[in-house]
Amino acid sequence: MGGSAIPRLDGAKGTYLRNCWYVAGWADELAQQPQMRVFLETPVALYRDSAGVARAIGGRCPHRFAPLGAGRVEGDLLVCPYHGLGFAADGRCARNPHLGDPPPDAAVPAYPLVERHALLWIWMGEAAKADPATIPDFAWLTDPRWDAVRGSTVAEGHYELYSDNILDLAHVNFVHPALAADAFTLGERRFWQDGERVHSLYLRDNDRISLGIGALLGTGDKLQDFRGEVVWHAPATLYFDFRSGDPGTPPEDMTLLPSLHAFTPETPDTTHYVWASARDFAVGDAEFSAAMRGALQHAFEHEDMPMIRDSHRLMAGAEFWSLKPLVLSGDGGGVRARRQLRRMIAAEQGNAEEKPA
Ligand code: FES
Ligand SMILES: [Fe+2]
Repeated sequence: MGGSAIPRLDGAKGTYLRNCWYVAGWADELAQQPQMRVFLETPVALYRDSAGVARAIGGRCPHRFAPLGAGRVEGDLLVCPYHGLGFAADGRCARNPHLGDPPPDAAVPAYPLVERHALLWIWMGEAAKADPATIPDFAWLTDPRWDAVRGSTVAEGHYELYSDNILDLAHVNFVHPALAADAFTLGERRFWQDGERVHSLYLRDNDRISLGIGALLGTGDKLQDFRGEVVWHAPATLYFDFRSGDPGTPPEDMTLLPSLHAFTPETPDTTHYVWASARDFAVGDAEFSAAMRGALQHAFEHEDMPMIRDSHRLMAGAEFWSLKPLVLSGDGGGVRARRQLRRMIAAEQGNAEEKPA
């Protein structure tokens, strides 16, 4: 995921949901070399032990606070790059290469980490509550019938601005001219909540869609029935089910492009952004994949990210609702997700009476 630079951690403290799964990165990008990351303003070292099992422990050495994720793996220990203390997967310091035993209470936290659907999922809360059954289903990422393109980066801006942006398809025609469709401005919109999930649905029959979308879907510039549904999983992992078909085609027979947009806060000002999109046609066509990846990377990293970065900077650290944002018809998903996340954070912090904003 992006570079390994450690962001400054001495600024304002954010408020986060901790008892939940966050995407920590692509599983195959964690190989021999450990990785240093910051999630929820907390330093984390990711590595694989001698059996290849992905592990996550605290990333700040308790000796002189060096980045453990910049160290190396020896057997099952992660060895600090500064003076060589070795840490086990439970976070305990198990080796001291200097005279004397490891200090008895020397340890860093250990975080549950699960490898699933080509992704690493980390639990930053109470380990006893970590249930892998609650990881959202992204099985298409490893299903051979689907050919996925993907990326990951560190994006400037608050993670809720990023999840707003996916739930709000109304921005597409303005930010992504190559991916425009009338459905995004004129289509029917439905927003609802099911349990802790939030849905945004955009629908339009006989829609004029851009050549860019037509190329991605392989439909050219024919009129298409259009259906785009975003599903938000707390705190900020989103599934986008985007499909179209010749007029009259039932949704299950339309061409589907499933997408993942996962946002994991690094700090209140920076976000790990992991994305993927897949197709079940032209499977194995490397040229198609390269074009698809290029178009999506351009949209997400060169169109969405600068817009959100600048919006975030203009908010100058103010709390979102304190700025009295206008609410437009496309905001029904984002507003629901923000309220649901506030409720969950308040409940987790034992403050359930706190009114959602
Ligand atoms: S800072 Fe890690 S061993 Fe000294
Ligand atoms: Fe966008």
